[in-house]
Amino acid sequence: MDREPLPRLDTAPELAARLQAYCRLARGEVWEDSLRGHRVGVLDAASWPEVERLVGGRRARLIVSDPPYNLAVGGRSSGRLFRTELSDYLEFSRAWVENALRVLDANSHLYVWLGADQNRHFQPLPDFMLLMRAYPELRSRSFLSLRNQRGYGTQANWMSVRQELLCYAKGAPPFHVVYTGIPKILRGYYKTVAGRRTENLERSRSETLRPGNIWVDIQQVFYRMEENVPGAYAQKPLAAFERILRSSSEEGSLVVDFFAHSGTALIAAERLGRICYTFDIDPLFAELTIRRLERFRKEGKTGFQTANPFPELLPPG
Ligand SMILES: C[S@@+](CC[C@H](N)C(=O)[O-])C[C@H]1O[C@@H](n2cnc3c(N)ncnc32)[C@H](O)[C@@H]1O
Repeated sequence: MDREPLPRLDTAPELAARLQAYCRLARGEVWEDSLRGHRVGVLDAASWPEVERLVGGRRARLIVSDPPYNLAVGGRSSGRLFRTELSDYLEFSRAWVENALRVLDANSHLYVWLGADQNRHFQPLPDFMLLMRAYPELRSRSFLSLRNQRGYGTQANWMSVRQELLCYAKGAPPFHVVYTGIPKILRGYYKTVAGRRTENLERSRSETLRPGNIWVDIQQVFYRMEENVPGAYAQKPLAAFERILRSSSEEGSLVVDFFAHSGTALIAAERLGRICYTFDIDPLFAELTIRRLERFRKEGKTGFQTANPFPELLPPG
């Protein structure tokens, strides 16, 4: 913990207890942003009355959810990410997915991040995918993967967790084409257009590649990145959230995230002109989410990098 001002808050119970005093929301409460109308709550994703308190009657164009994965991140068990019997985990998944279905608009997308424990027969990813077949109103659209540097090809330090991204559609939502920053390199693919032989790059609409289903161009978050939120242990890259919001929502539309943690969905929505309703069961993460937005508005920074999000903890002077 030399380089980060806070340890992982899920495995530091004494510090987490001290920090509760600085959290503006208690369980069941919702904060509303007076500027843009975003909302942040301390709520349980598995409880419909609590989710309903957040959304009221509004329906979302997009839900992006990154639930706990039923495994120990970084080899450490955590009360919040929990590791329970698979059947309990699936029960929890069923509950929050059904709540998500009630919030989704008639034409909308649902993205779910999910892990696969390579040391425990890849659970719970395949089990979750099968569970989703119970909801015929959702069509499976894409199985996306983000590159992880650790996991294959090194002598030691194999990371046992994969993080996959499942994309589902309800109804017929619009999809907006997005591009990476990776230059097109494929040549020699010829086609005759209006009687003229053309080469691949001549026909391209963009100089760069589309993301495809393996997102190699997005870096996992680590402490040297501006977007890093100290204390958060499962933060997803802002670039991944922004890609999802750009492709599967429009300016002004409502985006909902059931598992806020470091508030990545909220920052993506703020930067891209969407409205975000989000919540976490832990008041500490709801507080981090609100503070991250406040910092972004004040300083233009997407995270805290190595600054302490709770300066109250620092000695005066
Ligand atoms: C994998 S993290 C989400 C990471 C987030 N996408 C980000 O980029 O920061 C999962 C979060 O779910 C929260 N959580 C666990 N159980 C929950 C529940 N029943 N309802 C709402 N949030 C819950 C945890 O406190 C944790 O912050």
